[in-house]
Amino acid sequence: MIRDKVVIITGASSGIGEATAKLLASKGAKVVLGARRLDKLEAIAAEIERSGGQVAFQELDVTRQSDNDALVKLAKERFGRVDVTFLNAGLMPNSNLSALKTDEWHQMVDVNIKGVLNGVAAVLPTFTEQKSGHVIATSSVAGLKAYPGGAVYGGTKWFLRDFMEVLRMESAMEGTNIRTATIYPAAINTELLGTISDQGLAGQMQGLYDKFGISPDRIADVVSFAIDTPDDTTINEFTVGPANQPW
Ligand SMILES: NC(=O)c1ccc[n+]([C@@H]2O[C@H](COP(=O)([O-])OP(=O)(O)OC[C@H]3O[C@@H](n4cnc5c(N)ncnc54)[C@H](OP(=O)(O)O)[C@@H]3O)[C@@H](O)[C@H]2O)c1
Repeated sequence: MIRDKVVIITGASSGIGEATAKLLASKGAKVVLGARRLDKLEAIAAEIERSGGQVAFQELDVTRQSDNDALVKLAKERFGRVDVTFLNAGLMPNSNLSALKTDEWHQMVDVNIKGVLNGVAAVLPTFTEQKSGHVIATSSVAGLKAYPGGAVYGGTKWFLRDFMEVLRMESAMEGTNIRTATIYPAAINTELLGTISDQGLAGQMQGLYDKFGISPDRIADVVSFAIDTPDDTTINEFTVGPANQPW
């Protein structure tokens, strides 16, 4: 059931996070939004409230543990509990390794990997204590298939597969009833390509997305489906993409 569930969403200021926030709020969830761009969050929250939804938001840099902790605190203060955390913030500055864009490599590790670790660390004590919770993370098809230009991005997304599976296993063994879902999207039309600084690769990727890209609403539907599944059931992985995208 979605109604009245308290759902934290990171990377909620655009793309998949924004679409998910709006959909879940329209289905009666209480959504708690985090991202760095406060003005965007403010506008999204205002739209949700205008439609009768319940929402809280706060500036969040997932690379800072204290920001992640503060978002959980906000959820509890405003809505009394946390039921789901959707760890979705990420960036994809693809480039060939030979370009040595090492700052971008480290940024991807900090946001796509450490951001998820911080988000899980922030919510796990609550989920363990209440013996329930749902951790949903956005990986990528780049976490399932290797491609040139995506060594580091793919590596960060590949990490999630292992991490989320072990989280699922340990939660089952410890009897904490924490459910997990990892989503592997292909080409989804969002602001993600804006993070690619290599102009050649950015152009190639744009061409691919222009040809195949689908709406982030499709991923929001999957998150909604995962949350709506009965509490005794985990659907651990979803690979989702355009029906006509061959790779
Ligand atoms: N679009 C696709 O084709 C696709 C495919 C596979 C996987 N994904 C994954 O989907 C997730 C969402 O991306 P998107 O496609 O929706 O792209 P997007 O529109 O660029 O959204 C990315 C979100 O992450 C947030 N973010 C980035 N760095 C952050 C940080 N340090 N702290 C907090 N928030 C941060 C951004 O907000 P601020 O800039 O306001 O902080 C934004 O809300 C990412 O993990 C991405 O890797 C996307």
